[in-house]
Amino acid sequence: LKLGILASGRGSNFLAIYEAVKEGRLDAEIKVLLSDKKEAPALLKARERGIDAFFVDPLSYPCREKFEEEMTRILRAYGVDVVVLAGYMRLLGRDFLKEFPLRVFNIHPALLPSFTGLDAQKQALEYGVRYSGCTVHIVDEGMDTGPIVLQEVVPVYQEDTVETLSLRILEKEHQIYWQALQLLAEGRLYLEGRRVIIR
Ligand code: GRF
Repeated sequence: LKLGILASGRGSNFLAIYEAVKEGRLDAEIKVLLSDKKEAPALLKARERGIDAFFVDPLSYPCREKFEEEMTRILRAYGVDVVVLAGYMRLLGRDFLKEFPLRVFNIHPALLPSFTGLDAQKQALEYGVRYSGCTVHIVDEGMDTGPIVLQEVVPVYQEDTVETLSLRILEKEHQIYWQALQLLAEGRLYLEGRRVIIR
């Protein structure tokens, strides 16, 4: 796989995928990282590791479509065939997704379809669920609605804060994201309706 990473923040999922590639657990190459946030630590983390990383400023385009066209152009120039959202905090439009059909992946810090959108860990805590977790899914036009590839469960404890729960979930995120991508690399993912079948 030739991966293009989209990240808005810290970049710990990017790092986990980078390590998986480096250690030969994931048959892929990270070609480029793009961020919609100038100060995203993910940009620095990528550059420190010799990966080209660019800030694409959403405000310098008249609309989301033009902004996403520019991202598509860069991803294409780097030969990217799979787009990995790693803490990318925007919805992607139809035209962008059409460029990479069923080849845009996301990780969400909850057991979908529960707790979509922002602050999923806080939502889970406030709801009072006993278990939460994370989900790797294929991206469609909705918010955290696409076909589910892998999930991992964590317990929620009485004493948990958003921070402690988020950390417990994050450790699992770092384990399942590269595994889901490796399944794709091995050609083992099939879509039946909206279900992802692993063969
Ligand atoms: C993670 O919790 C991920 O599930 C969510 O955004 C966060 C990104 O963290 N989509 P990082 O930038 O990968 O450290």
